[in-house]
Amino acid sequence: MQDLSIPQALVSSVAGARHVMVVTGAGMSAESGVPTFRDAQTGLWSRFRPEELATPEAFEADPDTVWAWYEWRRDLVARAEPHAGHRALAELAGLVPRLTLVTQNVDGLHERAGSRDVVEFHGNLFANRCFLAGHALRDVPRPCAKPPTCPTCGSLVRPGVVWFGEAIPESALARAAASAGDCDVFLSVGTSSLVYPAAGLAHLARDAGAVTVEINPEPTEFAGVATHALAAPAGRALPALLASVQQALASGRA
Ligand code: OAD
Repeated sequence: MQDLSIPQALVSSVAGARHVMVVTGAGMSAESGVPTFRDAQTGLWSRFRPEELATPEAFEADPDTVWAWYEWRRDLVARAEPHAGHRALAELAGLVPRLTLVTQNVDGLHERAGSRDVVEFHGNLFANRCFLAGHALRDVPRPCAKPPTCPTCGSLVRPGVVWFGEAIPESALARAAASAGDCDVFLSVGTSSLVYPAAGLAHLARDAGAVTVEINPEPTEFAGVATHALAAPAGRALPALLASVQQALASGRA
């Protein structure tokens, strides 16, 4: 495959940045074999109804079915491996003074690729908690066909993800919003930029004067207002960006 050419202006912006912010979505994990939500043929929401699986009401009505769907996703993710794009982001963090990585993904693949201090905007598939009181139960032994009960209060245990109609964890929202207002380069990777408040972070960064970048093989509306749009998969664009930034830093061209 031909190397992707990265605009020199973008390379200089990243190499000279004080604070790079990256927001990733389901497309970031697509090349690891984890399905996205909205891609027409393969997206989860073309096969399943979100209101029957990803709301508190759905869990109350049919906890076994909701739990089983998340177990299926946990299995899928446990068998997936981070790809070169995940690793490139982990490495990029070591090249710039500050990098804030916010992910809408609940699969933990960034951490497994070596990224630290990831802001999990929509929670994590494996960070279970009880439905009524929110007692944390990170390590439910798997496989686990039905939702266990909380040893502290007896309520059913649910996956620690953000469902439709629920608030983003307060600390994640605060960190992400502060970073968006402070970063000088903002990368939006593998997201349809349709779900708020995550989608609003790119606009916050742009309004605050950051250089904005979209990486997505199917450009979204944000590509039209971003400073740079790379119409390529994350697994190709991020390693190419990293290599160009490494070269620029080595040759003192930042
Ligand atoms: P979507 O499924 O809405 O969008 C995935 C995006 O990834 C699309 O724009 C694809 O074109 C792009 N894409 C596909 N393959 C790619 C690749 N190899 N490299 C880069 N991009 C690629 O997923 P999200 O935007 O993450 O929320 O969806 C946001 C939220 O909606 C999710 O976090 C989830 C969902 O409902 C909750 O569960 C709360």
